[in-house]
Amino acid sequence: MILKGKKGIIFGALDSKSIAWKVAEEAKNQGAKFVLTNAPIAMRMGEINDLAEKCNSEIIPADATSMEDLENLFNKSHEILGGKIDFILHSIGMSINVRKGKHYTDLNHDFMVKGMDVSAMSFHRVMQTAMKLDVMNEWGSIVALSYIAAQRTFPDYNDMADNKAYLESIARSFGYHFGKQKKVRVNTISQSPTLTTAGSGVKGFDGFYKYADMMSPLGNAPSEDCANYVISLFSDLTRMVTMQNLFHDGGFSYTGVSQEIMDNFITND
Ligand SMILES: NC(=O)c1ccc[n+]([C@@H]2O[C@H](COP(=O)([O-])OP(=O)(O)OC[C@H]3O[C@@H](n4cnc5c(N)ncnc54)[C@H](O)[C@@H]3O)[C@@H](O)[C@H]2O)c1
Repeated sequence: MILKGKKGIIFGALDSKSIAWKVAEEAKNQGAKFVLTNAPIAMRMGEINDLAEKCNSEIIPADATSMEDLENLFNKSHEILGGKIDFILHSIGMSINVRKGKHYTDLNHDFMVKGMDVSAMSFHRVMQTAMKLDVMNEWGSIVALSYIAAQRTFPDYNDMADNKAYLESIARSFGYHFGKQKKVRVNTISQSPTLTTAGSGVKGFDGFYKYADMMSPLGNAPSEDCANYVISLFSDLTRMVTMQNLFHDGGFSYTGVSQEIMDNFITND
């Protein structure tokens, strides 16, 4: 029960495959109370209601690119949870260019701006609103999810690579100010490829997933383990960790090549 007595907001649970869904289940197991939120359009599917019931949580719709929605979300959460909050999970990503199969060298820049707003600027919007409304308790923790394409090129990850680089930079920049003002920590977790709606939207995801699995000494990190890592960052066990991009990838990020990959290139002559 390492989150006993803690309160928070979880963005981005779409269906049972979502990383945010696993985080919500584990946060509940660990004794937290929280509000669930997602874009109004994502709620049409209705699956989030099952999660809310299971976690004894309320749902407040909010488009993470709307300051009005975010203000409403924080004000209502404050009421529902009966006070300030201790943690926020930002588990949001979307690229219209990826969805429409646009090549990186032929992007639609209106789509690019929209994707950047949803996937990266929304993190700034969330933290700015939380700070202005003074909803965070001291020693609180804010986590967003990222991917290694922020540091290294994966051609089919498209403009999401740039969005993740921006997201990680916002974590550092806002992390400084939130730390100084409120002792709130801000980190990103860079997760292995994971079979979710957002993940499998990336072109060639299957090959991508298998390659990463073969490269990583521990294999790809499952979403349940990602949830556990998020929980550790919400807990008091990581009070002094902030402004970091933390790899949760079974060792992928520091592996040059694995034997399994090499085996495909070794010839006998
Ligand atoms: N799946 C992977 O391979 C992988 C790997 C590394 C990082 N991530 C990141 O993990 C996070 C969660 O993605 P996931 O894989 O669980 O997929 P997912 O599709 O289940 O979650 C993405 C969520 O973003 C929400 N969203 C989109 N636009 C929004 C908006 N305007 N306002 C509020 N919410 C909005 C969606 O409704 C959805 O719930 C994303 O940031 C993603 O980039 C995923």
